Amino acid sequence: MPAYRAPRGTRDLLPQDQLAISRLRALGEELAQRYGYHPIATPLFERVEVFERGIGEITDVVEKELFLLAPRDEDGGERWALRPEPTAGIVRAYVQHGMHSWPQPVKVTTTAEMFRYDRPQAGRYRSFWQFDVEAIGDPGPAVDAEIIELADRFYRMAGLDRFTILLNSIGDPVCRPAYVAELTAYYRAHEAELPPTELARLERNPLRILDSKDESTAALNAAAPKVTDRLCDACAEHFAGVVAHLEALGVAYTLEPRLVRGLDYYTRTAFEVFPAGSSGQQSAIGGGGRYDCLVELLGGRPTPGIGFGLGLDRVLLALRDAGSSPEIDAPEPSPVAVVVGSEPGDTVSRLRVATELRAKGLAARAELGTRKLGKQLEAAARDGAHFAVIIGDELAGSHVQVRDLEAGTQRAVAVDDLPRELERATKTHRHGLVEAGPPLAAGEG
Ligand code: HAM
Repeated sequence: MPAYRAPRGTRDLLPQDQLAISRLRALGEELAQRYGYHPIATPLFERVEVFERGIGEITDVVEKELFLLAPRDEDGGERWALRPEPTAGIVRAYVQHGMHSWPQPVKVTTTAEMFRYDRPQAGRYRSFWQFDVEAIGDPGPAVDAEIIELADRFYRMAGLDRFTILLNSIGDPVCRPAYVAELTAYYRAHEAELPPTELARLERNPLRILDSKDESTAALNAAAPKVTDRLCDACAEHFAGVVAHLEALGVAYTLEPRLVRGLDYYTRTAFEVFPAGSSGQQSAIGGGGRYDCLVELLGGRPTPGIGFGLGLDRVLLALRDAGSSPEIDAPEPSPVAVVVGSEPGDTVSRLRVATELRAKGLAARAELGTRKLGKQLEAAARDGAHFAVIIGDELAGSHVQVRDLEAGTQRAVAVDDLPRELERATKTHRHGLVEAGPPLAAGEG
């Protein structure tokens, strides 16, 4: 057992996982750009107040899951926490930089690590990746549908076909208070049936009871008043607009009147995505919604907004569970060439040749050990390289041998021509296939 391990709830992304996450990230960045979102990055940590005001003080994320940083006297007692999600920080930046005077909506995207001091379990980490987009300054409903369609496209392009988008409207400050009061009265009438955790929620944040994992509460929830039956006219019209746009785009969704989301800033549209055959919060592969009061809460003028966060770690888990991750999990491309040498100690020449190839844009590895040529060639083949560049003493160093590792043929190439030759050869060379006109087959073997 090693003395030091990654902290509980975190994990090292070893090359295969890191490569997969990078590919999902690249896919998100490319798609977001296609939809007109611009990259943004905010600090890894913010004043605690940004999260308290933004996400809500009586939410699990703020009450229990914030990674607080130890305060230092010289910072005047400012309290900081690692970001549990990016929306509050992005909206803080929107207000700070006066983005209300930019053309609206301001559409930004980030893919970054988030931190929640959550109880670790499968798919629930204390450090995880989110692909996030935010459109600030557009009241919708068309942009709501556009954002949901973007999420849908992301999953499909990542290779996930079977997932469900749950959709709801949770009203706004006009209609929600009356609904929450009605819901509270309903649960009060059934207090005896509520377990202690839900009773505590009843006092503090009754909407969250709708999210309960407890079985007896689920039965109670099934008969609870539905928020969608209590929307004010403006919210109902907005929701109908979202649905109509989704229908027009052919995006499949399931209406779920009990969907409430775990962050307080949401108004109206709320959605959450689950892979097929799963349920429960920790399997959600993404979620989002509208936050029409958040800019104002963080000190800006009233400005509507909407966005989503997709959990890349969970998308990867879902892809692998479904056995559908070939592209995301494809191995890294092999180096074009490995530079080896007949003189085991001459690492200078090998490194110099490899450096020149890399400077010309070719992926090359140099054998930097001092083993014999035969062993160097074996390692080159194991690397999956197409070619070995063999440095000998030919013509006082002006030529090298280039060996096609698949065909086993080789020929002399002038050092000056090497980058061009390798580039030309890789264009026609298909590793593992017999070539019609092999570029390097005419060698002395
Ligand atoms: P969220 O639902 O809290 O929303 O998180 C979004 C996604 O992040 C989840 O659906 C899940 O895939 C992933 N996620 C959350 N917690 C964990 C965890 N502990 N381990 C692994 N993955 C996790 C938000 O964060 C909002 N900021 C989304 C948003 C953007 N709404 C409007 N704009």
